[in-house]
Amino acid sequence: MGVYGVSPAETVGMTREPAIRRATTEDVEVCHDVMWRSVTDFGRRNGTPLEGTASDWWASGERLQRFLATHAAEWWVAEEPDAGTIIGYGRSIERGGLFELTEFFVLPKSQSRGIGKALIERVFPVGRGDIRSIIATTDVRGLSRYYATGHRRPFPDADAHRHARGCTARRRPEGPSPQR
Ligand SMILES: CC(C)(COP(=O)(O)OP(=O)(O)OC[C@H]1O[C@@H](n2cnc3c(N)ncnc32)[C@H](O)[C@@H]1OP(=O)(O)O)[C@@H](O)C(=O)NCCC(=O)NCCS
Repeated sequence: MGVYGVSPAETVGMTREPAIRRATTEDVEVCHDVMWRSVTDFGRRNGTPLEGTASDWWASGERLQRFLATHAAEWWVAEEPDAGTIIGYGRSIERGGLFELTEFFVLPKSQSRGIGKALIERVFPVGRGDIRSIIATTDVRGLSRYYATGHRRPFPDADAHRHARGCTARRRPEGPSPQR
């Protein structure tokens, strides 16, 4: 088992496992680029292409991105071991008892290798928050991870809008934290 809990079988094609570390505010633009590349690829593959370049999105989203970078409850990145390039990240915010996953993205070429699992365990740990909230795409790899963190009831608007968006919100039950 590797440093971030990924077995060799899950890292086929990678020479060494990515490093997982806390992000800093210097990572804000690179993470935004990872988000843009990941979500536009997902949209293309699922018949819901998204418009605009990464620069367009940054121009309209920079204030939000910098706010989240400064106020994140958890913000972690995965890096290529040698190049140090960021290939995935996750971020959450917490206000009072509300704990929300704001972003969760891995670059297309690095998906389905266990990086998302390693990130979300740190970014959205099971049992934290009275109200746990996620606004999500319909990516099965993301949904699989969200159910693993205790989410039970999806309220997708994907069917209504034909858009890859949905959300889940669940009050944590009394008693022990949910386990996988
Ligand atoms: C969602 C995302 C961040 C997950 O990261 P990832 O590194 O690909 O995820 P992992 O490799 O850790 O796999 C997550 C789970 O999905 C499963 N999975 C992987 N590929 C799958 C597939 N094609 N079909 C079904 N399940 C799959 C894995 O087995 C794993 O579940 P397990 O740990 O219970 O076995 C990443 O795929 C992504 O960026 N997707 C596009 C953008 C997106 O939709 N982000 C979510 C925004 S809310």
